[in-house]
Amino acid sequence: KNDMPTTIVVFGASGDLAKKKTFPALFHLFEQNLLPKRTRIIGYARTHMTVEDFHKRATSHFNPQADKSSIDKFLGICEYVSGKYDVDEDFQRLRSEIDRLEQESNIDTSCERIHVYYMALPPSVFVDVATQIKNNVYDESCTNRVVIEKPFGHDLESSRQLSKDIGGLFEESEVFRIDHYLGKEMVKNIMTLRFANVFYEAVWDRHYISNIQITFKEPFGTEGRGGYFDQFGIIRDVMQNHLLQVLSIVAMNQPKSLSAEDIRDSKTEVLKRILPIQLEDTMLGQYVGTSDGGKPGYKDDDTVPKDSITPTFAQCVMHVDNDRWRGVPWVIKAGKALDEAKMLIRIQFKDMPNSLFPNLARNELVIQVSPKESVYIKTIVKEPGLSTNLAMSELDLTYKTRYHDIKIPDAYATLILDVLNGDHSNFVRSDELDEAWRIFTPLLHQIENDRVKPLPYKYGSSGPEGVYQFVEDRVGYKRTGL
Ligand code: BG6
Repeated sequence: KNDMPTTIVVFGASGDLAKKKTFPALFHLFEQNLLPKRTRIIGYARTHMTVEDFHKRATSHFNPQADKSSIDKFLGICEYVSGKYDVDEDFQRLRSEIDRLEQESNIDTSCERIHVYYMALPPSVFVDVATQIKNNVYDESCTNRVVIEKPFGHDLESSRQLSKDIGGLFEESEVFRIDHYLGKEMVKNIMTLRFANVFYEAVWDRHYISNIQITFKEPFGTEGRGGYFDQFGIIRDVMQNHLLQVLSIVAMNQPKSLSAEDIRDSKTEVLKRILPIQLEDTMLGQYVGTSDGGKPGYKDDDTVPKDSITPTFAQCVMHVDNDRWRGVPWVIKAGKALDEAKMLIRIQFKDMPNSLFPNLARNELVIQVSPKESVYIKTIVKEPGLSTNLAMSELDLTYKTRYHDIKIPDAYATLILDVLNGDHSNFVRSDELDEAWRIFTPLLHQIENDRVKPLPYKYGSSGPEGVYQFVEDRVGYKRTGL
């Protein structure tokens, strides 16, 4: 564990992300004794409030069963500074507060220290805050780490501008771009599965794999954040980042080593081989309310324009143009207000060559990221007993059953710990980001310029009509009974 004196400033400390994710994750690390010994946390936001009010907000999403005295101890290291996001004096006050806390904790400022600036902020103020940090807070005698959250731009051009602005202020080695899917247990597990087990890597290519489906389904709509969501849509919200990141780890070649740069080199290399997505390979949807009026439609939200064409569902077929994957379709699907909560990666293998058995179903390896962490392989067996029929079964590694004593940490706790340790492996590098936008930008622009209408689907359904047919047509496979 790293025990360098550490100051963490959380910008946007009174916002949703900070309340729901950042502070609970910091508390989790504190409780597990994983924060460096002399850590101080400063919340910074525009709202004027007392430190007590801030403490109330910061703990509002803690587990109700959390230990009271641990919470009090945690709050003992949390201060609050209110200020605007573009006023020099406010940031100078922040710097004085950091200095004061370091003095209070008797920190020798000639020793190595870490300052983390965590921006839980809307994109409109990213650059202002980053500039203020650099001009008025940044301490050259420390290791400085800047954490930023998506959205990183709106398309290739705006993302490049943002990277240029941030790159003009901080070194890439100081920047940690969070994609919280990279902190999820089963996403972190993909590299281990692939590169630590001989039997996966041996069949991990177009000779054995027919298609790969990466699916994200949420059973709730954009209630409460429709206005925000409408500026982005599901492709920017989930696909261009979370799903593409997962895809790149499933598709990449083995990195030269486990170093962050080698891993990110491998991911970038495969992203470079992904062809921009075509509109004809895309299905778009937008949810409508249920007939009984029980669940609202996307456009019933007052903050969403009545003529919005923003997709809340999308399904695209992608192609990785390299020797390993040429000809294998990758189907990525994401939707809000669907019939279930599920995030999984389904790797479907090809038909068994020269099979002794007729009409075999295909093997599949499924990595389920949520809600239940599991890995299972759909495997054909002889039906047990006197029968000679075949049956589809699973080799099933469900984490709850196999590792019932282990509590799987929230992705944010894992990622903040990585920031404290200076490990970039699970953060997005600027060249990866650039490739991600290159793949999606032409499609996004075409949808917006041609005002392509999404297909309606009912809240709580499995998506627009034809959702499965779309996949079957493109992966060339119809399920058999088995
Ligand atoms: C966020 C998106 O990045 O990821 C949300 O903005 C989405 O729209 C969320 O709900 C999903 O994250 P998780 O961890 O709940 O699967």
